[in-house]
Amino acid sequence: MAKKVVTLAHYYCTPEIQQMADKVGDSLELSLFARDSHADTIVFAGVRFMAETAKILNPHAEVILPDRGSTCSLVTQTDVAALTAWRKQHPDHVHVAYINSSAEHKAVADWICTSRNVDDLIADLYAQGKKVIFSPDRNMGAYLNFQYGYDMPLWSAVCEVHDKFNEDALNAGLAEVADKSAFLIAHPESPLPVLKRADYVGSTSGMLNWVRQFAQAPDSVIFVATEDGILYNMKQARPELDIRQAPIYAGCQCNSCPYMKLNTIEAVKRAQQGEGIRIDYLTEAQMDAARLPIERMLEFSK
Ligand code: 13P
Ligand code: SF4
Repeated sequence: MAKKVVTLAHYYCTPEIQQMADKVGDSLELSLFARDSHADTIVFAGVRFMAETAKILNPHAEVILPDRGSTCSLVTQTDVAALTAWRKQHPDHVHVAYINSSAEHKAVADWICTSRNVDDLIADLYAQGKKVIFSPDRNMGAYLNFQYGYDMPLWSAVCEVHDKFNEDALNAGLAEVADKSAFLIAHPESPLPVLKRADYVGSTSGMLNWVRQFAQAPDSVIFVATEDGILYNMKQARPELDIRQAPIYAGCQCNSCPYMKLNTIEAVKRAQQGEGIRIDYLTEAQMDAARLPIERMLEFSK
């Protein structure tokens, strides 16, 4: 019998790749879809940590990443030995790690979060009187500390894509549309000065929902501080709105994740034929250790 293959694509993939996929979503949606899939093979048009998460949640499936280079700067900027030492320096804290982390990194976390559930999850831990350390995204952690008055010690890695957004470029962009109402929505991987100016801060899906429900003057300008792939979904949802990538420097409105964009049509087609990077290098023990904090999160997000 022919093997059943499903293709998952993150919103940051190009429109062509999203059209090739059985499921398009943010990292939480894709993790859940992968966990519940009965496919023999999952082609993951995303980045490596996402494919690893799919394998950890569905170890019987063969998981294929189309391109070897699809990493994430939050992973490459984190030395897990140093992170483990940092975790040991905070023995009375709970360690919450963002899902943008390697399987090894997840194994030294108590909880995994995504940008969709991080606010609620950490609020719940504080409500229980727990102290929290947060890794690896310094911008996201700084935002949570600012927004909710936490004092979480933070690991210091950034998303190289979102970290490029800055207040000066934003001010220049806003000045260009001074005669209109302008709104800013931003992913929490963006720097704090940008997030402080945002009308909405949230995950990829959260921003998409915000745009779907937008009910202000239709000639408003909506600046979006996140990776450019999602603009396709936003414009599809609300073609009548003026939705623009937030500028990263004067005159430049492009912010593209080089790792997501390695998912080319050719690479995804090859992966669907069984070629690509098989996520078969994690040991049972590594997967078991990483699964625990991920499953805690999935249970919390029900
Ligand atoms: P989401 O959790 O919003 O899908 O974001 C993943 C990501 O890599 C953001 O840069
Ligand atoms: Fe990683 Fe940033 Fe790319 Fe998301 S956009 S995968 S956080 S480098």
